[in-house]
Amino acid sequence: MANLLVLGTQWGDEGKGKIVDLLTPAFEVVARYQGGHNAGHTVWVGGRKIVLHLIPSGILHPGTLCVIGNGLVLAPAAFFKETSDLEAQGVAAGPDRIAVSRGAHLIMPWHPMAERVSEDRRGDRKIGTTCRGIGPAYEDKAARLGVRAGDLADLGVLREKIADAAAAKDPLFRAFGLPPLDVEAIYREYAGWAEKLGPYVRDVSLLLDERMALGENVLFEGAQGALLDLDHGTYPFVTSSSSTAGGAATGLGVGPRTIHGVLGITKAYTTRVGAGPFPTELADETGRTIARRGDEFGATTGRARRCGWFDAVAVRYACRVNGVDRIALTKPDVLSGLAEVPVCVGYRYKGERLASFPPEPWVLERVVPEYRSLPGWPESLHGASSPEALPPAFVDYVRVLEDFVGTKVGIVSTGVERGQTVFLDEELRGFVDLARVRAAAAA
Ligand code: GDP
Ligand code: IMO
Ligand code: MG
Repeated sequence: MANLLVLGTQWGDEGKGKIVDLLTPAFEVVARYQGGHNAGHTVWVGGRKIVLHLIPSGILHPGTLCVIGNGLVLAPAAFFKETSDLEAQGVAAGPDRIAVSRGAHLIMPWHPMAERVSEDRRGDRKIGTTCRGIGPAYEDKAARLGVRAGDLADLGVLREKIADAAAAKDPLFRAFGLPPLDVEAIYREYAGWAEKLGPYVRDVSLLLDERMALGENVLFEGAQGALLDLDHGTYPFVTSSSSTAGGAATGLGVGPRTIHGVLGITKAYTTRVGAGPFPTELADETGRTIARRGDEFGATTGRARRCGWFDAVAVRYACRVNGVDRIALTKPDVLSGLAEVPVCVGYRYKGERLASFPPEPWVLERVVPEYRSLPGWPESLHGASSPEALPPAFVDYVRVLEDFVGTKVGIVSTGVERGQTVFLDEELRGFVDLARVRAAAAA
């Protein structure tokens, strides 16, 4: 039995959805542990595009159980829109396929309202959030004002919790000229969700324990990326949850030793959506060319993603913080044809070379990246599916990245579809049962 944690090593959108969907045949369970519908995980199957937001990216494989852990914040309307969109495409998304932790916090109508107030108040220091109510829902969780999925089991408790939260929020909203919350209307709406969501709600920690005792394998699916982690990211330009490896244990109620390996999903260049420091950003024609070729538009909000060169300082940091065993390198096909591919290998700050990544934005905004320019590869990588199909100049580029990042690359992704992937077997041995993945891809 081997359980694998798959997470992003940059600022999100590294291609986690593609890799999770691809590897799912080697796992019986796929479990999300944090975030909410701020995530947008894209999966392409046979020319058809499916974007998952809340539901784990293993859902397209019929036998797989998909789990939403206590570490998530769940908007019931978004959840049921996603299940019905999936059902419309012939993907079963009922309670026999999806389990929601009773400890998952619900996004309530006042959360997106509070987020708009908070973003407006920041003026030109906005975080540039997805405005899904994610941050305020986590704020209420920490303030012990949250409503959890399990609370829907008792409508008396639900009503009381909504009334309590409204009493706490109303003075704040009044100060911003907003009307008081309509407790009755909110109660009626969530009592309606209670009936629909009830069959999905489970004791997820116990469920995972039972499944693992049967010898089943679990893939833990991270959302966002290490540099958006609430603690280890570029605070305050981060999301409000623990997207790093530690979040998997707390966000699902499993022990740390149930995680046997960590696969870091790493884009061959860097992107960021929303505000915040980005040392290798290319605010020029090259950046726009990469964005165009890489189709870098947000899978959730449709916003243009900022693009820049690969930052080995940042990825090295992410690999350390997460204990990444192997990297899945995505989207190098986008860089084909460049004469030279610069990679950031160090930062200078006030004239000194920094020993490691400084997550503080006021430092990151002022660092001067040091680049090493690597020879590009003229050949197209698009769709390559075997190590022999990789041009030597690209293989050299991968070796140099591995040295700078201090972690081996086990997978190279060369396109959006499952088959557009190169497995470097000797690197992945012990982490993923590739025979099962290959058999499913061939079926
Ligand atoms: P996630 O949030 O990490 O799941 O990533 P997103 O789905 O938000 O963004 C990744 C984008 O890159 C999606 O449009 C994917 O279909 C696409 N993608 C993933 N892997 C590759 C690849 O190797 N090459 C190319 N060209 N596109 C890829
Ligand atoms: P996936 O899982 C990229 C960013 C937002 C904003 C910051 C805080 O698809 O990689 P939030 O709404 O979470 O409070 O916004 O985090 N952000 C993401 N950026 N990919 C994501 O998810 C993101 N989820 C949140 O743009 O800068
Ligand atoms: Mg995404």
